Amino acid sequence: MKIIVLGAGYVGLVSAACFAEFGVHVVCVDQSEEKIAALLRGEIPIFEPGLDDLVKRNVQNGNLSFSTSMVPAIKEADAVFIAVGTPTRRGGGHADLSYVYAAAKEIAQNLSRYTVVVTKSTVPVGTGREIMRLMREANPKAEFDVCSNPEFLREGSAIGDFMRPDRVVIGCESERAAAVMRALYRPLYLIETPMVVANLETAELTKYAANAFLATKITFINEIADLCEKVGADVQTVSKGMGLDGRIGRKFLHAGPGYGGSCFPKDTLALASTAQDKGAPMRLVETVIDVNDRRKKSMAARVIEACGGSVAGKTIAVLGVTFKPNTDDMRDSVSLDVIPALQKAGATIRAYDPEGAKEAAKLLNDVVWGKGAYDAMRGADAAVILTEWNEFRALDLEEVKALLKTPVLVDLRNIYKPEEMRAAGFTYSSIGRR
Ligand code: UDX
Repeated sequence: MKIIVLGAGYVGLVSAACFAEFGVHVVCVDQSEEKIAALLRGEIPIFEPGLDDLVKRNVQNGNLSFSTSMVPAIKEADAVFIAVGTPTRRGGGHADLSYVYAAAKEIAQNLSRYTVVVTKSTVPVGTGREIMRLMREANPKAEFDVCSNPEFLREGSAIGDFMRPDRVVIGCESERAAAVMRALYRPLYLIETPMVVANLETAELTKYAANAFLATKITFINEIADLCEKVGADVQTVSKGMGLDGRIGRKFLHAGPGYGGSCFPKDTLALASTAQDKGAPMRLVETVIDVNDRRKKSMAARVIEACGGSVAGKTIAVLGVTFKPNTDDMRDSVSLDVIPALQKAGATIRAYDPEGAKEAAKLLNDVVWGKGAYDAMRGADAAVILTEWNEFRALDLEEVKALLKTPVLVDLRNIYKPEEMRAAGFTYSSIGRR
């Protein structure tokens, strides 16, 4: 089978490489000449574990190629996947669909055989039907069906999430299109991955519902953590006690500084906006958005409190700036709230992140970037863990104490245990524990 994937970002590049690994012939198209030139040189523009090997292997075996144009590949494509960006529109919560619609029109103008047009990007409910309308308008003679095939990829584990998904969700309006999608996902079919097939709106809403629910689950445990601090409970044990209930599940119950990333913030906003527009407001999701935003903004105050009420003239070492480990992605990272707030309160910031420093340096000013965790902590008055990179999980506490002017550690990811840290002589604060 032959497909085109439009968009060489996190979703597009991972999807293109994984379909190629399935044996599908894939052309990954992006309008950025620079990005395509880098990919043609074998350079991967994003940090995603395993992606460079997967891309290289499939370029070498001829299953994967890159281009800045869908022509001529579209003449032979069985399906075209739209995996372009759907950022949050300036000033509101709605998703900006201009790239999606532009891609749809260009596809319509270049179709010459029956082709399935698939939205892989997360798109608001109703987008698939709007794409059908736009394509018919652009080329009334075009023969196509539109499908929704939302991705459930987590950055840092995207390839595993694609190759071994809990389920594949397919929205389509014809058996002919469904047959093409089943053929594309045949390798997963063979390992009995559940396929959820429904109409377009159902598939589109399933994606938003899943992400908004995960964001809600995280926000719930974050608020429980605040209560734990007041009553002397331990949120990690509460989380364990909850999660062992099969109806709740143990995942996504890790209390932290608030969720970030390229999806939860964007998707909760888009869902809330759609719900408002359709007259079925989701007040729970609206509250989750508000609680999470406030939480991220409140984290700097925890650091200031741990430093005795002021960081003026002090140096704070920040370990981890990406929105989660195993990615270089800074989108909506809590560090973008915490670091400027501490600087505003008079602190000098030293920081280190295994992968994110390059991206972060474009977004944060006046940060001294350390070559490693210990280098960042050298001479600082306190250290803050913002992202739970593995290399922060077994720091030599004696060395940390020797490097810091005062042994103050604020652990916003609960990597360490309060009793151990206090025994080691630290003034230690964390989330949801005393
Ligand atoms: C998410 C969804 O998991 C994925 O299915 C969807 O396709 C895209 O959005 P991603 O944003 O890459 O994936 O990362 P994820 O691992 O979900 O974490 C999102 C945010 O939630 C991060 O800031 C993370 O630190 C936070 N988080 C996650 C918690 O605070 N606690 C948790 O228990 C889990």
